[in-house]
Amino acid sequence: MASVERRILVTAALPYANGPIHIGHLVEYIQTDIWVRFQKLRGRRCVFICADDTHGTAIMIRARQEGRSEEALIAEMSAAHQRDFAGFDIAFDNYGSTNSDANRRLCGQFWTALRQAGLVVEREVSQLYDPQAGTFLADRFVKGTCPKCGATNQYGDSCDKCGATYSPSDLIEPTSVLSGARPEIRAAKHLFVELEQLHEFLETWTQSGEHLQAEVANYLKGHFLNEPLRDWDVSRPAPYFGFEIPDSPGHYWYVWFDAPIGYMASTAEWCARHGEAFDDWWKSDDAEIHHFIGKDITYFHTLFWPGMLRAAGYNLPAKVHIHGFLTVGGEKMSKSKGTFIKAETYLRRLDPAYLRYYYASKLGPRLDDLDLNIEEFVNKVNADLVNKVVNLASRSAKLIQDTGLSEVYPDDGGLFANAAAAGHEIAAAFDACDYSRATRLIMELADKANAFFDMQAPWKLKADPAQSQRLRDVCSIALNLYRQLAVYLAPIVPRLAQQTAVLLNAPIAHWNDAQTPLAGTPLAPFQHLMKRLERKDVDAMIEDSKEGAPAATPNAPPTAAPAAVAATATTSSTTATTTATTTGATPPAAPAVDSDAALLAEPLASQITIDEFAKVDLRVARVLAAEDVPEAKKLLKLTVSLGGEHKRTVFAGIKAAYRPEQLVGRLVLIVANLAPRQMKFGLSEGMIVAVGPGEKEVFLLGVDSGAKPGQRAH
Ligand code: MSP
Ligand code: ZN
Repeated sequence: MASVERRILVTAALPYANGPIHIGHLVEYIQTDIWVRFQKLRGRRCVFICADDTHGTAIMIRARQEGRSEEALIAEMSAAHQRDFAGFDIAFDNYGSTNSDANRRLCGQFWTALRQAGLVVEREVSQLYDPQAGTFLADRFVKGTCPKCGATNQYGDSCDKCGATYSPSDLIEPTSVLSGARPEIRAAKHLFVELEQLHEFLETWTQSGEHLQAEVANYLKGHFLNEPLRDWDVSRPAPYFGFEIPDSPGHYWYVWFDAPIGYMASTAEWCARHGEAFDDWWKSDDAEIHHFIGKDITYFHTLFWPGMLRAAGYNLPAKVHIHGFLTVGGEKMSKSKGTFIKAETYLRRLDPAYLRYYYASKLGPRLDDLDLNIEEFVNKVNADLVNKVVNLASRSAKLIQDTGLSEVYPDDGGLFANAAAAGHEIAAAFDACDYSRATRLIMELADKANAFFDMQAPWKLKADPAQSQRLRDVCSIALNLYRQLAVYLAPIVPRLAQQTAVLLNAPIAHWNDAQTPLAGTPLAPFQHLMKRLERKDVDAMIEDSKEGAPAATPNAPPTAAPAAVAATATTSSTTATTTATTTGATPPAAPAVDSDAALLAEPLASQITIDEFAKVDLRVARVLAAEDVPEAKKLLKLTVSLGGEHKRTVFAGIKAAYRPEQLVGRLVLIVANLAPRQMKFGLSEGMIVAVGPGEKEVFLLGVDSGAKPGQRAH
């Protein structure tokens, strides 16, 4: 009997919508993305789900202060988060929001189940209330004098100075952070889930040794399960930004109630888009759910969430993978020291591959905190990624650029076979989230490959025509050993794997691509793979991050990572000069004389000869398929035909101007002999010719009817 394919559903914690993504968050999203990419590379069915966590007091207050709706605020944050994640090659299959219809519906379902199981109880809670702002105050919204040591200006939950924890009503001279008013104590109804009723189940589930790291299981046993579990307060009285509880008007589910349900709501969206059945992922023996989270939110994911899932009859997580916290230079990230580095700030200066590799090299299966040490960061990236890996490729590819790989894979003394065999151990390390071990094993292979290359000294063979086959053989071996490294590193540095696929004319689509050497394939013209990490760029990034540092110019070009911008003729900086002059101009259908004149604002390029023009191979192409690239702001992915078997994939920055369905079937003009360009979302094999300043004002060049795909423009 055919066995049912195992489904793996992976989540990373849903980032709060009230702040930007920073390098601390990225520990988690990079860790999870690597795991997902690894599973996919192994041929597993794996779906990576995330969403923004949008509800709660903080968002409500901020929207109020900024004079806009919560919806407007969270929409902006979601776009920013998704842009940052895409910039780091973190590739979610679905990125949702907890403020979605699907989530509201599922919350209602969970609520009904909890009620029916008799788990919900009602009690009065006295809480500080800000009469001026008209809202109850969460602990962090109250400040005052510590009742224990007398330190002033302390938050409502704990004292920075003496470490005492207390309730906000114990503070001496409390004031509301919102209005400065003196809060008063008010009682309100709250709804609680009686977790204790699930004690036995949670004891068994957490202590089974299957779902949690041992240190987590022990922590839960020692801190929570050794006494009755406390009731969990899941409601907040109005005003609150969240979902109103259907059977308790004026009361809202607390943000931590609807947040984990957001994992499911985001899955439901993905299912709807892909014709999948939701229950196959959340109510099936063939599905495995893996949550990745930081240690600070352990309680919610290991006690409360399993309890809710159990009560509502859904699958429990197969595993909750918990990681430690990031420190920088041994300390907490600090705004004044410039170590609170936003994803966006990083991407302006540095290649995301550096951080992905560095974090991977530091991440083990345990909960230890990990430290970003700037010196180690620079050294490790350069020593490992650049010197051992990338340079192996560039040194050998340049030597046999013209001949390509040897027709038969030469005798290499067992090097390739050895590295192929190491694939099992490396895979086991990835699977166990022991990336530091995986990178160590991969670097050992890199050392062996480099030792071989240096020993053979192929650059000396280059001078001697009699040695040309030997030269080709040595470099073919080196490139095949390099390709194995690129396959094993693909989950960590996916762009390098894509570039390698281009260079060697062979896709990297499966872990087993490291099992068979390539022979006889031509090499694509060598393109730079990765530049060295310069200390000065890291220092500049830290300067940019210091509190009070002027925001860097948003359009400053990134120094390393090629941004995924348009592959059309519409993004050069010169065309941008026309933007100002044509803004607000007449719509394209009825061009006025004025706007025609404005187009001349772009200076003419210097003269070329007819021969130079002839180098550009402009062809008619028919659009066969067009699809949105959801992670990219501007891009559509087009498949075009040049006639017969000749098809090309092109990414074009025309999303704002064209809907995919408008394009299918039409003829366009493409630059057919442009060197393929590796973009974040795939390889772009040409450029669609278009005019206009960009965004909505992009106009594809058409071809009069009668022209055939493949015909060349003269
Ligand atoms: N919104 C909640 C999660 C809800 S999940 C249903 C939340 N959001 S968060 O934005 O504060 O954090 C998102 C994830 O990033 C969490 O897993 C958190 O542990 C992790 N990290 C946030 N700062 C971190 C570091 N400095 N270091 C490592 N991970 C960090 O919690
Ligand atoms: Zn104190």
